[in-house]
Amino acid sequence: MDSIVTPLRQLLYVSSSNPSGAKIDVPTVVEQSRHNNALDGVTGLLWSDGKRFLQVLEGAADSVMTTFARIRADPRHHAIVVLHERNIEAREFGNWTMVQRRPGDDPDALDRKMRRLLEGASQTVRGNFLGLIAARP
Ligand SMILES: Cc1cc2nc3c(=O)[nH]c(=O)nc-3n(C[C@H](O)[C@H](O)[C@H](O)COP(=O)(O)O)c2cc1C
Repeated sequence: MDSIVTPLRQLLYVSSSNPSGAKIDVPTVVEQSRHNNALDGVTGLLWSDGKRFLQVLEGAADSVMTTFARIRADPRHHAIVVLHERNIEAREFGNWTMVQRRPGDDPDALDRKMRRLLEGASQTVRGNFLGLIAARP
C-alpha cells in the first residue's frame, strides 16, 4: 500500500503579550499547549520572559498550520511575526518544551540551558532564540 508522506514543517515566530488583551498566565498556556500539541504531534520550543514569546513549532505541515492559526487568533498576544518557515527532514526539537525566564533566575544558567536545547537547531532558529535572550534587560 502506498504511504502518504506528509512533509514535516517548521515555523518560528515572535510575539508580544497584548496590553489590551487578557493577562497571559504562562502556566495556563503551557498546559493548553502540552495537551493540544501531544494530540496533534506538534513539538518545538517556547521561550518567554513574560512579555515576549518566541516559539518554534514542528510537525506535519497541516498540524503546524492548524496550531499556528489558533495561536495567531489568540488575543492574549499580538505583533506576531513569522521569522522563518520551511520544510524539514527531521525534527530539531523532539519534545515540546517551555523555557521561561522568571525574575531572579540566573540568566547565565538559562543561556546555558537554551544553548543545550538549541544544539540540534538550524542557524536561523538558534540565532533568533539566542539573540532575544541576549537582549535581556
Ligand atoms: C505565546 C502563546 C503560545 C501558544 N502556543 C500554543 C501551542 O503551542 N499549542 C496550542 O495548542 N496552543 C498554544 N497557545 C494557545 C492557543 O492560542 C489557544 O488558546 C489554544 O490552542 C486553544 O486551545 P483549546 O481549543 O484547547 O482551548 C499559545 C498561546 C500563546 C499566547
